[in-house]
Amino acid sequence: MPDSRTYVALTAPSVQVVVAVDGGVPRIAYWGLPLPDDTDLAELDRATEPATPQGGLDRAPRLTLLPEQGRGSFAAPGIVGHRVGQPWSAVLATVRTERTPTGLTWAGADPTSGLDVQLVLDLDPSGVLSIAASVTNTGETDYTVERLAPTLTLPTSAQEVLTLAGRWSKEFQVQRQPLVTGAIVRENARGRTSHESSPTMFAGTTGFGETHGEVVGVHLAWSGNHLLRAERLPDGRGYVQAAELLQFGEVVLTPGETYASPTAHAVYSATGLTAASQVFHAFVRSMPGHPTAPRKVLLNTWEAVYFDHDVAGLKQLADRAAEIGVERFVLDDGWFRGRDDDTTSLGDWYVDERKYPDGLGALVEHVRGLGLEFGLWVEPEMVNPDSDLYRAHPDWAIAVVGHPEVLARHQLVLDLANPDAFAYLLERLDHLLTEFAIGYVKWDMNRDLLQAQVHRQTVALYALLDELGRRHPEVEIESCSSGGARIDLGILRRTRRVWTSDCNDALERQLIQRGCSYIVPPELMGAHIGPTTSHTTGRVHTLAFRAATAFFGHFGLEWDVSSASDAERDGLAEIIRLHQRFRPLLHTGRVVRGDHPDPAALVHGVVATDGSEAVFAYVQLQTSDPTVPRLVQLPGLDPHRTYRVERLALPGEEAARQKHPPPWYATGLALSGAVLGRSGLALAVHDPESATLLHLLAEQDASVSG
Ligand code: DGJ
Repeated sequence: MPDSRTYVALTAPSVQVVVAVDGGVPRIAYWGLPLPDDTDLAELDRATEPATPQGGLDRAPRLTLLPEQGRGSFAAPGIVGHRVGQPWSAVLATVRTERTPTGLTWAGADPTSGLDVQLVLDLDPSGVLSIAASVTNTGETDYTVERLAPTLTLPTSAQEVLTLAGRWSKEFQVQRQPLVTGAIVRENARGRTSHESSPTMFAGTTGFGETHGEVVGVHLAWSGNHLLRAERLPDGRGYVQAAELLQFGEVVLTPGETYASPTAHAVYSATGLTAASQVFHAFVRSMPGHPTAPRKVLLNTWEAVYFDHDVAGLKQLADRAAEIGVERFVLDDGWFRGRDDDTTSLGDWYVDERKYPDGLGALVEHVRGLGLEFGLWVEPEMVNPDSDLYRAHPDWAIAVVGHPEVLARHQLVLDLANPDAFAYLLERLDHLLTEFAIGYVKWDMNRDLLQAQVHRQTVALYALLDELGRRHPEVEIESCSSGGARIDLGILRRTRRVWTSDCNDALERQLIQRGCSYIVPPELMGAHIGPTTSHTTGRVHTLAFRAATAFFGHFGLEWDVSSASDAERDGLAEIIRLHQRFRPLLHTGRVVRGDHPDPAALVHGVVATDGSEAVFAYVQLQTSDPTVPRLVQLPGLDPHRTYRVERLALPGEEAARQKHPPPWYATGLALSGAVLGRSGLALAVHDPESATLLHLLAEQDASVSG
C-alpha cells in the first residue's frame, strides 16, 4: 500500500536516515550518506522491498524498528513480554506520528495485547541517531516485559562485526567476527556496564579499517545489563539490536505503568571506524555538562599510598605534586572510619578520626592552600558486612533471603531502590560535599551485581547522581568501577570522567585506551602515569613511554612522587607542562587512528577541528619484523595545508631507545597533509614498548602554540 506510507528523511551533514511509516511500526528505509535532495523516497523504498522467497510465508514482512513475530518476522522480536504466558507477541498499529525538529515520535497500540508503544527517534547534528522506546500496559492485568529492543536494519555491505570484550585490568579489547547467517550476541548480566562487554557494536564491510569501509556503530547508553545482537537472516538481510537485558520477572508493569528502554545511539560512516567514533565524540561533546575548562592534571593517591593514610605523608605528597604542576589532588580509598584494608567499613561514610585527628578539613585546606583542587573517593553503592552500617541495617543489602550471600571484594550491594538506603547515602554525600571544599568525586563501584533487580538499581543510581548533581552542580564526578566497568553514555550524562582501567601499565593501556576511544573522547578518559614498575603487571617502563601513553587523555599521576628521584620529578614537571600546552588541542580536536600495516605498532593522534595543528603518536608495542618502522601515514590532516613536522621529545627518552634516526629528524619537515596521509614518514628504530610523539603545525599558523 505505497500511498498510505509516509517517509521522513532525517539528515545531518554526514548521514541520512529515511524512516518509512505506514500502518505499523516504522522502519529504516535507508541509512547511509545523504541522498540527492530530489530523491523519490517512495521509489527508493520500493526498490529495496525484498522478493518473497519460496517455501516461506506468503508475504515476508519488512524489518521494522521493533520486529513482530505476530506479523511473521523471524528476526528477534523487538518487544517480548506476556501476561503469565499470554499473549506473547505484540502486533502494533500506528496511532500517531509526529515530526519533531530533528526526529520523529511514533505511537502505536495493540489493544489485543493491551499495549501502547512509543518510539522516539532523533538525529543529532553530529550524526548520532538516538532511539528510545517505551511500552505502557493498557490491559487490566500485570504485564511482564522481557525485552524492548530498538532494531536497525544494517546496510547491505555489513559483513563483519567488531565488539569490545575484556576483563578487569584489560578492558576494551577489540574482537572481530564475520557476520554469517545467524546471530552474534553480546549479553552482559553483571549488574554494571562491565569489564567484559562494552555495550558497543560496530558492523561494516569485511576488513573495515580506521580509514576505510562502510561502518555503522550502535551503543546502548545504560549502566546495567545489556543485550546487543547482530544477525544475518537466512534471506540475507542483517540487523542490529540494542536493549537492556532483563531477567525473568524483573520488570512487571501493573495496569497503566510504563517501562522505558535505555536510549540506543547509532552512527554511520562511509570511511571507516575513525569517522564513526568521531561522530560519537562530537555527540558526547555536545551533551550538557561536558567540560569545557582545561582538564586539571591530577594526582590520585591510590597506587601512591593505598590504605596507608598518614596526614603528614599526604601533605608532603601534595606539596611535591604542587611543585611539579599538579592541579588536583584526589584522596582515594582509605579515609573513612575503620577502612584499613578492603575487608571492612564500606558504608561508614564518616572521616576516620584515628587517621585524621584534626579532621579531613585540615588536609583539604592544606591542599587548597597549595592552589590545588581537592577530590575525594567514595563507593556509595556498597557495604561491607563488617561495617556499622550493615550491623545497623542488614536489610539494606541486596540478598536473597534463604540463599547464601555472594561476596565480591568482601562486599555487598546496597539496595538503592530502598528509600531509606537512598536517603542515607544522599545525606552522607551531600554532607561531605557541603562540609568540605570538594571539587571532585571519584565514584567507585567494585563488584558485579547478581540479583534480578539491576533495572531498578540502575534507575536509582541515576536518580542519586542526578540529585547530587542538582545540589552540587560544580562538583565533577568521575565514574570508576574497578577501573573501566562502568563506561557508557548513560553514566557519562552524569559524570565528567571515566577511570579507564585499573591497569596503569603503559603497554596494556595503549590497547585499552584505543578500544575505549571508539566511544569516549580523550578529555573524559582518565590516564595516569603510574610507578616505574607497574603494580598490576610487574612490567617496567620508561617515564617517556608512560608519559606518551597518558599524554592524550585526562592526564594524571598515580605514583608516590614524594619518593621519586629529583630527576623523575623534573621529568614529570616537564611532561605536565607539555601536556598543559597541548591539552586545548588534545581535548577538542578530532581523534584519528591509523591503519598501520605493522601489527607490532600503533598510530593514533588528534587533529585540530580546523586542521591547523596535530599531535600524533607512533607506538611500538613489540619488536617488528622489519628492521626499521614501516612508513607511518598520518590520517586526518587537511590535505591542502602544509605542516611543519617535528618530534616532541619526552623527558626520560634515552637516546638508546630511538636508534638510527632518519635524516629528517635533524631539521624537521614541511609537507602537505595529502602527502603525509598518503606517502608517510620514516621514523627511527624503536625498542619495543616505546613511542614517538610528533607535532604538526600548519605553516601559516606557526605561532599558534610555539
Ligand atoms: C578500584 C579503583 O579502580 C581503584 O582506582 C581504586 O580507587 C580502588 N578501587 C580503591 O579501592
